[in-house]
Amino acid sequence: ENDILKKLPLRGKKVLITAGPTYEAIDPVRFIGNHSSGKMGFEIAKAAANLGTEVILISGPTHQKVSHSLIEVIPVTSAQDMYEAVHQYFERVDVAILSAAVADFTPKEVAQQKIKKKADTLTLELTKTKDILASLGEVKKQQYLVGFALETHNELENAKGKLKKKNLNLIVLNSLNDKGAGFKSDTNKVTFIDHNDQITEFELKSKAEVAADLMNKIISEIDA
Ligand code: CTP
Ligand code: CA
Repeated sequence: ENDILKKLPLRGKKVLITAGPTYEAIDPVRFIGNHSSGKMGFEIAKAAANLGTEVILISGPTHQKVSHSLIEVIPVTSAQDMYEAVHQYFERVDVAILSAAVADFTPKEVAQQKIKKKADTLTLELTKTKDILASLGEVKKQQYLVGFALETHNELENAKGKLKKKNLNLIVLNSLNDKGAGFKSDTNKVTFIDHNDQITEFELKSKAEVAADLMNKIISEIDA
């Protein structure tokens, strides 16, 4: 192969990426959400597309914008929507990177009308959402499956547990403990843990740089 093709090591591959938060409806005007900005997932999508791979970017509500001929954005709202969209595309991809901050719980029932402030307290009953990442771990064939983990304590141990339990090839541990890392910021402090228990800790970096590190890791793994 010539040099130009080598510069596009993922040419012809397809990558599925989830990004952003999910919104879980309470009534017609309210929802339960979270502070995820979608930045990390969108940076991964751009990094992947710039390597020549086709990207399916399934994103919850976000202000992020991207315009790239190789990126198809599929907007979704709830965890259930995201689950369905992800399963619609998973079979055709080579790599799936699930960076979305999916709600773990959703209202058991959505009120058909706006809830009035009649009483002094309001109790909402919530039920668990489907774990999208774990569901892919159960059905995956040749796909290289990457998850994220957000931990505040026993970080490495918990992240390793998720890697095993969800049948992943790689997990990206996000440290919320570090200043300048996390949901709203432009930087992230991450540690990669792969299925061979190889651990790589990175400095605080821009999310674009973290995305590049992640793509490098994936290339080295699926080329091998
Ligand atoms: N995830 C998912 N579907 C869910 C919940 C999480 O696909 N319903 C994915 C996230 O996108 C992330 C990974 O699972 O890649 C880990 O998310 P995290 O919130 O750290 O872990 P959970 O498994 O949800 O466990 P907990 O929140 O209790 O730590
Ligand atoms: Ca969670």
